[in-house]
Amino acid sequence: MSHLFSSISLRGLTLRNRAFVSPMCQYSCVDGVVNDWHLVHLGSRAVGGAGLVITEAASVSPEGRISPADAGIWNDAQVAAWRPITRFIADHGSVPAIQLAHAGRKAACAPPWQGGKPVSPGQGGWQTLGPSATAFGAYPAPREMTLADIEACVADFRRAAERSLDAGFAVAEVHAAHGYLLHEFLSPLSNERSDGYGGSLANRMRFPLAVSRAVREVWPADRPVFVRISASDWKAGGWDLDQSIAFARELKAIGIDLIDVSSGGNAADQQITLGPGYQVPFSAAIRRDAGIPTAAVGLITEPVQAEYILASGDADAICLARALLRDPYWPRHAAKALGVAMEWPDQYRRCDVGPLGR
Ligand SMILES: Cc1cc2nc3c(=O)[nH]c(=O)nc-3n(C[C@H](O)[C@H](O)[C@H](O)COP(=O)(O)O)c2cc1C
Repeated sequence: MSHLFSSISLRGLTLRNRAFVSPMCQYSCVDGVVNDWHLVHLGSRAVGGAGLVITEAASVSPEGRISPADAGIWNDAQVAAWRPITRFIADHGSVPAIQLAHAGRKAACAPPWQGGKPVSPGQGGWQTLGPSATAFGAYPAPREMTLADIEACVADFRRAAERSLDAGFAVAEVHAAHGYLLHEFLSPLSNERSDGYGGSLANRMRFPLAVSRAVREVWPADRPVFVRISASDWKAGGWDLDQSIAFARELKAIGIDLIDVSSGGNAADQQITLGPGYQVPFSAAIRRDAGIPTAAVGLITEPVQAEYILASGDADAICLARALLRDPYWPRHAAKALGVAMEWPDQYRRCDVGPLGR
């Protein structure tokens, strides 16, 4: 019996296995509208056998994009463009999930292959927003969000979740990791507010919890909502595992179904010790101490490694990013390595034959 290839049920949804496509920006949209690239990219990974296909960060507003080429979910044209993609994923045995995001003070950058640096307002960029006017490294300082900005952003996430349902998604993931807006509110390194949204842990969690609650409220009771967090800033005085466990408990209380446990991204001088499965201990601690299902992510590349993480009770699912860029059929190859039979799509059945090709 394989853990990786056992199904997992969350609310009314059953996923065929626990190998998930981790969210990955493709920087290939115009005006936030996904296109044929996204259909082929995400569609291939559904055919490749993933249990859940999570889209790249889809911004809830134009100013929430990391780059002008990011995906969006703030207007009807974007909803219409997502529909064939969600339909294809669902038609091929997988489940479509959308990551809802706002990049905060790390918005308005060029795509990585155009340098990845901040773009000024005159050159296609825009004034970024953050909890405080504190810059990330050498980036331009964001404008501190007013209470009206905070309320408007919660409403943007709520509306984006409604649009995501309309677009055919079965799972929503709130992006509260990697130094983007929600993480910026959580971390004392980026949140220097003196009102009800800054200072104490309860205050720093207030906005990310309001966003998560808004998404949960509009998401159907039989479908799950995930939250991706960075479990550590990897910097003294920053966000850490203990605060992550407290946050996960609050998320569980408002009905969030799974914590997708990543780390880092909020301090330009973070000190990360990288290695295979380096974030798995965070997932294990959150799963154990907050009593909520988790997904582990980060340098998980081998089928036996994924299997061991699940068998040890360190996570309930595995998100794979770069391994799935290299090989969209990673789940099919992993199934073979673990001795599990996986159904092929009808169109490909003739490949499932012996060495003589019959
Ligand atoms: C090309 C690329 C784009 C990414 N975009 C996102 C994103 O949109 N949202 C997110 O939460 N993480 C994003 N990530 C991080 C991955 O989801 C994942 O957490 C990270 O790559 C570590 O997993 P891995 O070792 O399996 O690649 C991205 C990673 C890559 C390689």
